[in-house]
Amino acid sequence: MKCRRCEKPAAIKMPRHNSAFCDLCFRDYLHKQVMKAISDQRMFEDGQPILVAVSGGKDSLVLWDILIKRGYPTVGLHLNLGIGEYSRISQAHVEKFARSRDLELIVQSYQDDYGLGVVDIAKETARPPCSACGTMKRHHFNRIAMEKGFAVVATGHNLDDEAARLLGNLLNWQIPYLKKQMPVLSDEGGKWARKVKPLYRLPEREIAAYAVLNQIDYIIEECPMSKGAKTFLYKEMLNRLEENSPGSKLQFYLGFLKERPSAFPQQIEAETQRCASCGQPCGGDLCGYCRLIQRVGAS
Ligand code: AMP
Ligand code: FES
Ligand code: ZN
Repeated sequence: MKCRRCEKPAAIKMPRHNSAFCDLCFRDYLHKQVMKAISDQRMFEDGQPILVAVSGGKDSLVLWDILIKRGYPTVGLHLNLGIGEYSRISQAHVEKFARSRDLELIVQSYQDDYGLGVVDIAKETARPPCSACGTMKRHHFNRIAMEKGFAVVATGHNLDDEAARLLGNLLNWQIPYLKKQMPVLSDEGGKWARKVKPLYRLPEREIAAYAVLNQIDYIIEECPMSKGAKTFLYKEMLNRLEENSPGSKLQFYLGFLKERPSAFPQQIEAETQRCASCGQPCGGDLCGYCRLIQRVGAS
């Protein structure tokens, strides 16, 4: 098979475009998709410093790679969640990536901060690990961005993540959660760092291919806490749909972005209250993170 653009031997098939690309044309295509996401959603201005949340997985490392190659000023942020070997290997991948490209990286360790990893914190507070983990990550992304003066935090959420989450939210009619599904989460007029997801147009398969073609080493294993999570089932279902009718994943998510204002007009972008303890946005008196940490302290 030949590359659709330059006729060189193809490196990757693109069923959703009914074509194939060589290594260089694929790289160009992927960069353009990211640049389109950034400009369509007005994620950030040229020259604006970006804090990139890097887990050690393929998505966030590929995102960091593309942002630096496109000339954006970035600093990486890795949270060591204290999940045994999984966290040790994740951090090693992030550090290797940053070191080999001479990039600035901030590493924060839960074990150093709390004396406990995320699994112990979840156990102490009787919360499901992934839910406690999500609450803590959000808090630290916000806190570190504000402390270090970043107006934007970029995460590696991809099309599969967003489409699977959307499917789950719709299956369970969890309408209030839909506001978290946007590619840009508000900074409330500059009070907080804006959260952006520049990979929302790209499926996991293409991101993995980019990582391999660009020699980006990443942790392949999923987090051990996520075993049996419904997200995997939703992703599998969407992949079967995609196989049958290529392009349906993107159509599903982009359709949601287009129809959301009229289909769910009651959606308000931002949480308007402030946590009485840490000052971050929340729905009640205390944010989920501060309630969690108080319970750890009390137990
Ligand atoms: P996940 O929720 O694990 O699917 O991760 C979604 C995104 O959150 C990743 O692509 C990263 O941008 C960010 N992220 C997840 N875990 C970490 C971590 N331990 N440190 C920094 N960023 C993370
Ligand atoms: Fe948070 Fe798995 S990454 S519990
Ligand atoms: Zn708080």
